[in-house]
Amino acid sequence: MPDGTAGDVSTRTEVVRLEAIHKSFGLLEVLKGVSLTAREGDVVALIGASGSGKSTLLRCTNMLEVPTSGRVVISGEEIRLKPAAGGQMAVADAHQLQRVRARLGMVFQSFNLWAHRTVIENVIEAPVHVLKEPKAEATERAEALLHKVGLYAKKDVYPAFLSGGQQQRAAIARALALRPQVMLFDEPTSALDPELVGEVLKVIRDIAAEGRTMILVTHEMAFARDVANHVAFLHQGQIEEEGPPQKVFGTPDSERCRQFVNARKH
Ligand SMILES: Nc1ncnc2c1ncn2[C@@H]1O[C@H](COP(=O)(O)OP(=O)(O)OP(=O)(O)O)[C@@H](O)[C@H]1O
Ligand SMILES: [Mg+2]
Repeated sequence: MPDGTAGDVSTRTEVVRLEAIHKSFGLLEVLKGVSLTAREGDVVALIGASGSGKSTLLRCTNMLEVPTSGRVVISGEEIRLKPAAGGQMAVADAHQLQRVRARLGMVFQSFNLWAHRTVIENVIEAPVHVLKEPKAEATERAEALLHKVGLYAKKDVYPAFLSGGQQQRAAIARALALRPQVMLFDEPTSALDPELVGEVLKVIRDIAAEGRTMILVTHEMAFARDVANHVAFLHQGQIEEEGPPQKVFGTPDSERCRQFVNARKH
């Protein structure tokens, strides 16, 4: 895996480029000009206190929230925005967004599986209906993905019969089934009982080891330190410190960052 400090940075393709993202909700300015780049194979961890803007930044990346200003560029293609009421922006071209969004796999804290579909039906749903893949092909790939996340034995089970950790692993398989260029994770383990956290982190670690690009919001500092090659510490809507994990966790320049990471050392 690239270590974020090597000289290879400029040769790897940019997958996600966020430029000067601002986001306000009414009078509350939540993001105050955040720029962040993820290149092919990067695992970027976003850390920071509750309310610092981590989820909002991730949601701006796939336009679940539209930035108030700034640019979101996915694999070289800028998502086109237009001015809207109240000083906000709106998506200019819904078809373009749909196309670009298909490159982004998103896994949230809550699993959002279809309750009335089995695990494998959940995984093949989008490939068959959105990507128009033949069902047999989608099923074969879904089975391989369920093997990867350790859920093959549960493929014909309904989500209600799965543990939280198993549901989250199914959600990861479902996101991977769309062949995303980047995976966005927002605290994928924070809704889990402690004994189930490890199995989900292991799956994410395995996916990262395959060289998949990802941006990950996490409260698991040891995991971030271990799996990420770039860490960004958000404070009140700005990146206060960023760099390779050994720098951000070991010798940060920012006193706030130092306090934050030290308070979470076990
Ligand atoms: N849709 C919204 N409307 C109004 N305010 C919002 C909205 N979404 C987020 N906020 C506010 O923006 C700020 C940042 O929220 P965000 O969810 O991005 O923080 P976070 O860093 O992900 O926090 P946590 O670690 O608790 O998940 C908070 O003050 C939150 O209340
Ligand atoms: Mg959040």
